[in-house]
Amino acid sequence: MNLIIVVILGLLQNFPNVILGTSNIGYTTYTHPGGMHPMQQIELVKSKISDRQQPYYNAYLQLLNYTNNASNHTTHAVVDFSIPGYYVNPALHINRSFCLQSDGFDAYASALAYQLSGGQSKYADQSLRFLTAWAEVNKKYSDSDGPLVMTYAGTAMILAGELLSNYNGWNNTNKQQYFDWVQNVYLKAATEIRTRENNWADWGRFGSVLTAYLLDNAQEMTTNINLIKSDLFLKIADDGHMPQETVREAHGIWYTYFSLAPMTAACWVVYEATGENLFTNYSKGNASIKHALDYLFYYNLHGTEWPWYPNVTVGTPAGWPGVLFEAMSSIYNDSRNFNEDSFDTLEFAAAMHELDYEQDHSPYPDYRN
Ligand SMILES: *[C@@H]1O[C@H](CO)[C@@H](O)[C@H](O)[C@H]1NC(C)=O
Ligand SMILES: *[C@@H]1O[C@H](CO)[C@@H](O)[C@H](O)[C@H]1NC(C)=O
Ligand SMILES: *[C@@H]1O[C@H](CO)[C@@H](O)[C@H](O)[C@H]1NC(C)=O
Ligand SMILES: *[C@@H]1O[C@H](CO)[C@@H](O)[C@H](O)[C@H]1NC(C)=O
Ligand SMILES: *[C@@H]1O[C@H](CO)[C@@H](O)[C@H](O)[C@H]1NC(C)=O
Ligand SMILES: *[C@@H]1O[C@H](CO)[C@@H](O)[C@H](O)[C@H]1NC(C)=O
Ligand SMILES: *[C@@H]1O[C@H](CO)[C@@H](O)[C@H](O)[C@H]1NC(C)=O
Ligand SMILES: *[C@@H]1O[C@H](CO)[C@@H](O)[C@H](O)[C@H]1NC(C)=O
Ligand SMILES: *[C@@H]1O[C@H](CO)[C@@H](O)[C@H](O)[C@H]1NC(C)=O
Repeated sequence: MNLIIVVILGLLQNFPNVILGTSNIGYTTYTHPGGMHPMQQIELVKSKISDRQQPYYNAYLQLLNYTNNASNHTTHAVVDFSIPGYYVNPALHINRSFCLQSDGFDAYASALAYQLSGGQSKYADQSLRFLTAWAEVNKKYSDSDGPLVMTYAGTAMILAGELLSNYNGWNNTNKQQYFDWVQNVYLKAATEIRTRENNWADWGRFGSVLTAYLLDNAQEMTTNINLIKSDLFLKIADDGHMPQETVREAHGIWYTYFSLAPMTAACWVVYEATGENLFTNYSKGNASIKHALDYLFYYNLHGTEWPWYPNVTVGTPAGWPGVLFEAMSSIYNDSRNFNEDSFDTLEFAAAMHELDYEQDHSPYPDYRN
């Protein structure tokens, strides 16, 4: 999971203050490519790369390294993406999730390289190899965690398609096949889980918002915005804790992160699509997204004070939930995140900017339900 989030939020971080400095209100149709990675941000990063400015330049070299490796990877599409419950069979859950995690990662990395390299078709074609394989082969998902893993691992496939939207080497047959897969498989999964109560809903809404953007579906965008608003203050209590996630015993902090990461990513796409700012302009009493982030931040630093479980597992600056704060600090223009106790600024930033996802291939347990 983390690898996707690191990519998403890591790139988001490269565009400080965009949300505070601009207003997009008034869009009626969406600009492509856009949404998670608006064109103005891609252009900014391209200019940093061409100036060899750090940390952008090394991040870019790292990205090219990933795409070089991807050129050696076969595609892993399956007809039925069948994922047993993590708590039922963790080994099989992880084994079967790999095909979409891996192909999604390679598709997304290659599509980013296509944009950041100034449109080199070799990267676009490589990304399409993975997208097309899934569009041709994958017909459904199944078993209890099928819709969740399809939705969150599949975000990378949607982001890749968006980044390739201006690639003229994507022929109509293949493009239509991809859109059919997005509609019939991916969106079905996201829609199915977006009305659940806990982090499943946040992933469903994020997947659904990305798809609404990709497919220019303003009505679905509105539906998702209303869903996010409808229960935000059931998800986030007045003191900032998230009741559906803090109950997860030793993993309450991890689950809080696993809920806030897609929630904030969805809010970012909503902002890009409509100008509606749920980050700073949606609160009730003391409860807000910012308050939940502050709560997570505090207790991740002070795990022994966590009120919900005696021995909660905390994350690290370089992994979860560090990547989330890295991204959010640019949205809230909040440098505080980098000055506290154990959060080592340099380590933190280096890990982000070098797009170092290696850790995510195993050491972090996948605590899901
Ligand atoms: C990618 O990076 C690894 C480790 O730094 C290095 O061994 C490898 O040669 C690089 N591959 C390419 C294609 O740049
Ligand atoms: C690419 O593959 C090489 C060889 O397997 C490995 O050493 C390197 O870490 C990989 N690069 C990345 C960015 O994962
Ligand atoms: C691709 O695989 C071949 C054969 O295993 C290996 O020699 C080569 O270094 C790999 N290239 C990359 C970029 O990983
Ligand atoms: C999944 O399990 C099969 C059968 O044991 C094995 O061959 C395969 O390499 C595993 N895949 C991954 C990604 O671990
Ligand atoms: C579209 O591209 C694929 C391969 O990328 C090719 O197999 C197919 O024939 C092309 N279709 C058309 C109509 O050009
Ligand atoms: C902020 O919220 C108010 C009241 O809900 C709304 O009228 C206004 O348009 C919102 N502004 C933004 C930027 O979202
Ligand atoms: C809301 O925040 C204010 C200021 O921190 C605090 O005094 C008040 O007790 C809080 N209210 C609730 C219900 O937590
Ligand atoms: C707390 O959890 C850690 C890691 O799961 C474990 O190593 C440690 O023994 C636990 N401590 C107590 C007091 O249960
Ligand atoms: C962000 O914060 C810095 C320092 O606190 C300030 O100089 C800058 O103007 C702020 N930027 C925005 C867009 O508010």
